[in-house]
Amino acid sequence: MTLKRPLRKEIKGNKLDFLDKINPGIHLIHPYEPGKSVSDVVKKYQLEKIIKLSSNENTRGPSSKVVRTIKNFNDWHVYPDGDGQALKKKIATIENIEPDKIVLGNGSNEVLELLGQTFLSPQVETIFSAHAFAVYKLISQARGSFYHEIPTLNWGHDLESFLKKINDKTRLIFIANPNNPTGTYSSHDEIIKFLRKVPAHVMVVIDLAYYEYVTVKDYIRPIEIIKNFPNVVITKSFSKIYGLSNLRIGYGLGTKELIEILNRIRQPFNVNGLAQAAAATAITDRSHIEESIKNNIEGRNYLYQALTDLNIEFIPSQGNFVCIETKTNGSNVFNALLKEGVIVRSLDLYSMPKHIRVSIGSGYENRFFINKLRKVISTN
Ligand SMILES: Cc1ncc(COP(=O)(O)O)c(C=O)c1O
Repeated sequence: MTLKRPLRKEIKGNKLDFLDKINPGIHLIHPYEPGKSVSDVVKKYQLEKIIKLSSNENTRGPSSKVVRTIKNFNDWHVYPDGDGQALKKKIATIENIEPDKIVLGNGSNEVLELLGQTFLSPQVETIFSAHAFAVYKLISQARGSFYHEIPTLNWGHDLESFLKKINDKTRLIFIANPNNPTGTYSSHDEIIKFLRKVPAHVMVVIDLAYYEYVTVKDYIRPIEIIKNFPNVVITKSFSKIYGLSNLRIGYGLGTKELIEILNRIRQPFNVNGLAQAAAATAITDRSHIEESIKNNIEGRNYLYQALTDLNIEFIPSQGNFVCIETKTNGSNVFNALLKEGVIVRSLDLYSMPKHIRVSIGSGYENRFFINKLRKVISTN
C-alpha cells in the first residue's frame, strides 16, 4: 500500500517527522463527509427557506414522550451508568435476547469502530460492497487493512462474489441491510445461504441502521440469525427512526463472548446518560415508530410517482431515502438544488457520480424537493 506524503514537513523550522510514523492506511483516508448543515447553506446562499434531506434523519424528530424524558433529565453532575443496565434491559425485552449479548455505542458507528479495533491490522482483510456505507472503508483504512470492494448486482450486495474473496486473512465482512446509499436489501434466505458458507474465523457485521423502515415480508429476522451463527454481529441505531441522531446512541448484538471483548475496549462511559434515558423511552414508544413508518411509506410512494412522472429513474428503497439517477452530473444537480434551498447528498464519494440521494421528509418537504428538482433538471 503506498503512503501519501503529508503536505507539510515542518512548522517554523520544526520538523514534522512524526507524520511519517502514523499507522499505515491513515494517509489514504478521505475523511467522512457529513451531509451539509442548514447553517452552512444559509450562510453561503442567504436563503430564507432551507430543507435538509441529506442525512437520513427522521423528519418527525423524536416522540413527544422522549422529549418529555429529555426535559425531565436531571443527572447532569454524575457519570452515566457505564454499563447502561436500564437501557439494555429494555433492548433485551424488545429484541428477545439476554442483556449480556448487547453492547451500547456512541452511535452504532462506535460499535463498528470497536469491531475494527478488535479484529483489524495491516495483516488482515475486510470485504464489503462498492457503494456501501462509507465508514466500512474508513475503518479498514484506519487499521491499514486491505479491503475488497465487491461490485454490486442491480445495486444490491452480490453475496456469492463476497464468498470468492474470503481467505485466511479475512476478518470482517460488512453488510448494510438495507444498504446506504442504494436502499437495496438482502432477504433472510439470501443472508442465511451466505452465512452457511462463511468460515467460522470470519466475523460478519450485519448493519441494520434502517431496520425499522423495512416493509418487505422476506426481510431478515436478526435474532434468529444471532442465535444460529456465533460469527455474526448485528448493529442497530437510534439515529434513524427514533429521531435521536444528535444524542449519538446505537447498539450491537452478538455472542456473550464477543460482547465481552467489545466491552473491554470501549471507553468506560462511552454513552451519555441523557442518550440512554431518551433511547429507553424511544424504544418502547410503538406509536411513534408506527407513525414514522407510515410517513415514510407515504413519502416514498409520493416520490416514486413524482419521479416516474418526471421520467427520472430511481433505485427502489427499503430505507428512509431514495437514490435518484440524474442522467447528468449528480454534483451539478446537488449544487443547483442547494441554491434552491434543498440539501440532498451527492454521491461522488460512493462512486455514483450520476446519482443523488434524498432522504424522505414530510409531505411538505417532499413536494418542495420535487418542485425544485423539476426546475433544476429542466435547466441542467
Ligand atoms: C448504514 C449505516 N450504518 C450506520 C450508520 C451510523 O449511524 P449512527 O452512528 O448514527 O448510529 C449510518 C448512518 O448514516 C448508516 O447509514
